[in-house]
Amino acid sequence: MIPLFSVSMSAAAPAAAARVLGSGRIGQGTEVDEFERELAGRIGNPRVATVNSATSGLQLAVHMVAGGPASAGHAHDPEGEVLSTPLTMEATNWAILANGLRIRWVDVDPATLNVDLDDLARKISPRTRAIMVVHFAGYPVDLDRLAAILDEAEARFGFRPAVIEDSAHAWGATYRGTPIGTHGNICVFSFQAIKHLTSGDGGALVLPTDELHRRARLLRWFGIDRTADRLRNPPDVPEWGFKFHMNDINAAIGRANLAEVDRVLARHRDNAAFYDRELAGIPGLELTERAGDRESSFWIYPMKVEDRESFMKRMDDAGIMVSNVHERNDLHTCVREYSALLPNLERVAPRVVCVPVGSWVTDEQREHVVETIRKGW
Ligand SMILES: Cc1ncc(COP(=O)(O)O)c(C=O)c1O
Repeated sequence: MIPLFSVSMSAAAPAAAARVLGSGRIGQGTEVDEFERELAGRIGNPRVATVNSATSGLQLAVHMVAGGPASAGHAHDPEGEVLSTPLTMEATNWAILANGLRIRWVDVDPATLNVDLDDLARKISPRTRAIMVVHFAGYPVDLDRLAAILDEAEARFGFRPAVIEDSAHAWGATYRGTPIGTHGNICVFSFQAIKHLTSGDGGALVLPTDELHRRARLLRWFGIDRTADRLRNPPDVPEWGFKFHMNDINAAIGRANLAEVDRVLARHRDNAAFYDRELAGIPGLELTERAGDRESSFWIYPMKVEDRESFMKRMDDAGIMVSNVHERNDLHTCVREYSALLPNLERVAPRVVCVPVGSWVTDEQREHVVETIRKGW
């Protein structure tokens, strides 16, 4: 079976982790500091705060900008809502619920599978506390258009909701020439097992301001200042926080893999370019948008097919693992109260399917994928 996902682990990672394990210091320390410095250099933004997962990072991001009842200094906010996409991993949206905020679903753009920015513009209201977008599959949302929508909202309502870019799929993706993480919003990356860059488990917030960076670094560890002399002069905690920090074991694994992630990413992109060429123009099979001003990381390779069930059966019979990867989140019982009419999603969700595109997919295997798809038509 050609797998849809695989772990990209550097051969140097076991020794790097073993060094930390034998050092007597396995908590958050110098490996985390170094990992953050290296991540900042790659992204081109010095304001990086690692965490133990993107899920924690998203929860902390919503907490910092939209703080619901759990947030320091905020009153209970029963009306507060966060606009978000239903086509994502549940982690994106449960971070909103974890902060006691309501979800207002925004429809998806069938061309990109990202949030539909027209629908988003329509749904901003005085109740909007934040906006969550996902770079689905690693294909960047049109961030300039989003900024223009926020300019209009600010002129109309007198406030500008913060944007959180769930960048879990988007390591290495660029928008208008610069990496995701440099466009003025909070970004949250995932270093979970099967991402381009893995630290075993882990994530990072990449922040647009020094103040948010300062808060993220404090709130990921109870709000306690780890740089203070905690034995002789224990610092006060002005704002309480969580236990979301990364440790040196995960950071060491992440650093070993960071040294090789460019090769991993390049192979995802090379396989995607092959599919783009070979699968273009097949009637009944639609590829997603490729705009010239952005570059996807192709964590997955989604396409849209008319009869997904028989497509999946054919691929399975040919030894190719395929899946839609993420189920729409809005149909879960726990979010029934937020249900909304989402006509684009209704039409596109049953057609989405992803084929193996990662660095482990060989030339022969990607040819087999293309031939199997072509034969079925
Ligand atoms: C879009 C999206 N957001 C968030 C997450 C959560 O990431 P993590 O497993 O690092 O918590 C994932 C995980 O796959 C994801 O796909």
